[in-house]
Amino acid sequence: MASPQPIAVFDSGLGGLTVVKALQKNLPNESIIYFGDTARVPYGNKSQNLIQEYGKEITEFLIEKGAKTVIVACNTASALALPFLKKTYNIPMIGVIDPGAEMAYTVTKSKKIGIIGTLATVQSKAYETALQHLDNTIITIAIACPLFVPLAEEGWLAGDVPFLIAETYLSELVVQDIDTLILGCTHYPLLIPVLEKVVGNGIRIVDSAETTAKYTADLLKELNLLTDNETEGKMENYVTDLPVRFKRVARRFLGREINHVSPVHLS
Ligand code: DGL
Repeated sequence: MASPQPIAVFDSGLGGLTVVKALQKNLPNESIIYFGDTARVPYGNKSQNLIQEYGKEITEFLIEKGAKTVIVACNTASALALPFLKKTYNIPMIGVIDPGAEMAYTVTKSKKIGIIGTLATVQSKAYETALQHLDNTIITIAIACPLFVPLAEEGWLAGDVPFLIAETYLSELVVQDIDTLILGCTHYPLLIPVLEKVVGNGIRIVDSAETTAKYTADLLKELNLLTDNETEGKMENYVTDLPVRFKRVARRFLGREINHVSPVHLS
């Protein structure tokens, strides 16, 4: 049976719009609710307890809005809160770690995989654990790249500054002979042109936004939860704070204008 209910996507801020963009490409007729916890971003330096608490509040809000599934687009929240959210709610809760790890496993030949993300994601070792489940001979090297988030939000996506920062962070990875690099943070897909320049042609970049959208499409199909709507789906947006440059930053992530945004007060 088809389901007309929306797919919900949440992130600590606006970075999860990279997942929305990929969903709109793969599943154009699905309606989407986007939730950006803009008042409490960044999650990347917060404790597991706090991130679980935020995840719980947001998931309950989204279920109340009729979500048929919730995508935890934030890598940090996927790493630290998803197992708890999966146990707590009985709708499909989708994270970005497993799809990213599976895609990296599919493309790696040398079985040496680099991972970049926030400090919390790197410290959680969530990608390493997911990759080890797939194949315990895989070698991983993970590096936190905290400056990439403000660069993406400020729109510093090209030129000397992002290049030098990326080169400094990634030099350690490049010399380790990795052949695959997982972008373990919602914001990093915006920096792909710079990252490609730094790592060169020999390293395949895995963007978890795109792989998560494909994973969601497969899962909803398997569960008979795809919509049978034949026109383009609608989009509703909720944020916990309306940042001054909201529209500009949102356009950068989504590649188009966001029109209806409602501020929400959660607790
Ligand atoms: N959304 C976060 C992630 O993907 C990055 C921003 C933050 O630190 O909250 O890990």
